Amino acid sequence: MNERDNFSSKLGIIAAAAGSAIGLGNIWKFPYMAGQNGGGAFIFVYLIAVVLMGYPLLYTEFALGRRGCSNAIDAFGKITGKKFLNIVGYLAVGTVFLVATFYAMIAGWVIYYFIISITGELYTITPNVELATHFETVFKTMNQNAVWPIIGMVIAVLATGFINFSGIKDGVEKYSKVLMPLLFVIFIVLIGYSMTLDGFTVAVNFLFKPDFSALTPGTIISAIGQAFFSLSLGMGLLVTYGSYVPKTKNLRAISRQVVIADTLIAIFSGLLIFPAVFTYGGSPAAGPSLLFEALPQVFAQMPGGRWFGALFFLLVIVASITSMISIFEIIITCLLEKLHISRHKATVIVVIAILVGSLINILGEGPWSHVTLNGSTIFGFLDAITNNITIPLTGALTAVIATWFWKYKNMEHELTSEGLYKSNVEGPIFFTLLKWAIPPIILALIITSL
Ligand code: PFF
Repeated sequence: MNERDNFSSKLGIIAAAAGSAIGLGNIWKFPYMAGQNGGGAFIFVYLIAVVLMGYPLLYTEFALGRRGCSNAIDAFGKITGKKFLNIVGYLAVGTVFLVATFYAMIAGWVIYYFIISITGELYTITPNVELATHFETVFKTMNQNAVWPIIGMVIAVLATGFINFSGIKDGVEKYSKVLMPLLFVIFIVLIGYSMTLDGFTVAVNFLFKPDFSALTPGTIISAIGQAFFSLSLGMGLLVTYGSYVPKTKNLRAISRQVVIADTLIAIFSGLLIFPAVFTYGGSPAAGPSLLFEALPQVFAQMPGGRWFGALFFLLVIVASITSMISIFEIIITCLLEKLHISRHKATVIVVIAILVGSLINILGEGPWSHVTLNGSTIFGFLDAITNNITIPLTGALTAVIATWFWKYKNMEHELTSEGLYKSNVEGPIFFTLLKWAIPPIILALIITSL
């Protein structure tokens, strides 16, 4: 058995968990999912899902992980004494691997945009070509020849692997503590600028005035999946990080702060991107290219925009790397403990597997774009099955295991650090939701939306 590393401080845990939660899911995925699913109504369901499902599941996964004190696969069997329940762990880790393969691709795109922002190439516009068309072309060209996405992806994966190499305290915690607060500051500055744009009011209406006729089982499960994706739920992350959290820390308090930080950044991202869409033209429903086509229009027109753009993309790189560290860590911890190999060896295996998986996604967006699965590109397919099926499903099964197999007393015991913190009414209320409401609702939505 490996000597298990631990987080050293509460702030370090929050920074690492928030660093995991806040990432491309908030800045790139949330706006385009909201844009594709009708704006306000999607965000309304998203927020409900965050509070009533995300928050209790977050601390449940944390508690399960700390109690199980092992990797994300074995934890389920260990706390319940039923080894077959590890299947949920396999589902979680399998899902996070699939996520990793497209996540690294998107991180690669961001690295490319950072570079062409600095060199100014992003803003070299042919006369008489509209801004929106120009940025659309930049995005398409990047994917078609695939060279830059590959270079960007390799940089992202190697940089992440390097940090994971150093272990929990020296790697994950140290970097997250510095990088996450920086991200908040830069965001505030950029939103300040967005507020001066003409389209700001339209954007606010689009984001916060729900049109409930837009809701279908499909959009509801997408919103739940997005909430879980954004909080890093249903993918073994909190189980893994929970196993590194000292017994005396208050898991509910930590979870609340992670939920608040993550949700703020998602909303901030919407407030940053949609004013640009409504000021300079472009479709809110553009899909995964939204971030890359809408925001550069702002940077192209604001004074010093090129540098702000570079700063912005740098920030997104930081957010993606802190999330990728956590994704890698889930799989590394599994390999460490299941194969009894060293952290270095485990890191190398994970890096290679993700390089290969990401390469397939990248080719699927460019040279292999004729290859379709269920009508989507490889990436589109993986994004859809993870977001709308395996992530919510793992969340639902985790709730089932915690409430039906592990049970209230054990869970509350762990959550209160064996009586160190007081239980209050939220314990039984959320437990009831986890036991009776969340699993059937999620299952019904998955089935009806198929
Ligand atoms: N929650 C991250 C984001 O919103 O970008 C993505 C993520 C991190 C997914 C960690 C899964 C995970 F284990």
